Amino acid sequence: MSAPAQKYRPETRLVQGGTLRSQFGETSEAMFVTQGFVYDSAEQCEARFNNSEPGYIYARYSNPTVTMFERRMAEFEGAESARATASGMAAVTTALVGQVRAGDHVVAAKALFGSCRWVIEEFLPRFGVASTLVDGLDLDQWKKAVRPNTKVFFLESPTNPTLDVLDIPAIAGIAHAAGATLAVDNVFATPIWQSPLALGADIVVYSATKHIDGQGRCLGGIILASEKMIQDNFHMLLRQTGPSMSPFNAWVLLKGLETLHLRVRRQTETAAIVADTLAKHPRIKRLIYPGRADHPQAATVARQMRGGSTLVGFAVDGDKQATFRFLNALRLIRITNNLGDAKSLVTHPATTTHQRLTPEARAELGITDGFVRFSAGLEHPDDIVGDLVEALKKV
Ligand SMILES: Cc1ncc(COP(=O)(O)O)c(C=O)c1O
Repeated sequence: MSAPAQKYRPETRLVQGGTLRSQFGETSEAMFVTQGFVYDSAEQCEARFNNSEPGYIYARYSNPTVTMFERRMAEFEGAESARATASGMAAVTTALVGQVRAGDHVVAAKALFGSCRWVIEEFLPRFGVASTLVDGLDLDQWKKAVRPNTKVFFLESPTNPTLDVLDIPAIAGIAHAAGATLAVDNVFATPIWQSPLALGADIVVYSATKHIDGQGRCLGGIILASEKMIQDNFHMLLRQTGPSMSPFNAWVLLKGLETLHLRVRRQTETAAIVADTLAKHPRIKRLIYPGRADHPQAATVARQMRGGSTLVGFAVDGDKQATFRFLNALRLIRITNNLGDAKSLVTHPATTTHQRLTPEARAELGITDGFVRFSAGLEHPDDIVGDLVEALKKV
């Protein structure tokens, strides 16, 4: 085994952290494609099961390739512990369900990825867990939402898709004063630009499907927290219910981590160029980019993020038909609901990721029919800008 200590710089930890080497001394991380493990003796098997000897038992519990991914992520994020899951939603659902019991209460920001909102608004109440959704930018609303039975605060920042930036230290303070925990979905910021645990959050979750894979190949998720938090709330839930990450996906994601900083930095530079171009464009009504001085929460961005974003939000000056004409005229940038890929992508949230919300709920969040989410890829920035500017002629 060789795993570099925390003293190494972030880029080094992303390449080398958490590596486990087998007896063959492979350079690249091995993919352990196995469901189970064999034992030298019945005594050893018994010892593994009663926890008197450490080691692997069954791939629903863990697998060496999955361990490498968990350890590399934990080292990078500065977390004591981590558990990988089959998808980002498995991580979010576990992070919430694992902490609550019937009769408890959750407070979350309204501006959330659609599936996260469904878990909080529709799924948790089936089991007697109430929730209150607040305007995440309004600290008073967080304070007023607290009840004696509030156990968890949940937010994402920047938000999907409108890129609001929520004040993580302030919201963590309100949660802790209420005896609750704060869980942060850090997908949009990426671990490169924001470290919620260092900002006061108790739990960080990722959809590794996004920037961590970054090349559109597989699903994955991860929960990072203290060892105690994971043991008390998530360990048994994950083992017994089984939303486990496959070793193949863990291997892809491990290799993704090696290039994460290069990709995210380049995508952020490209997104900033796109934002500056679109901000001046006559057919763009509204532009939001964390990293520009005109972002409504620019001061919060400066305090808690190390860089901007790989995503740009903008509203074209037109109705749904005009927006669809623009999307359909793009030649290089592809229409999808995903983000964080090597390929530049656009999403129309009102008809995809947020279509389940009522028109009023969408309007409240600023998700108009003209609103588009752009995810910068790794293509040359001039080609990306050229494609957007050409397609805008169709609005
Ligand atoms: C902010 C955010 N959280 C969670 C998820 C869910 O991730 P997955 O699709 O890997 O389940 C997504 C997916 O789009 C997302 O954008």
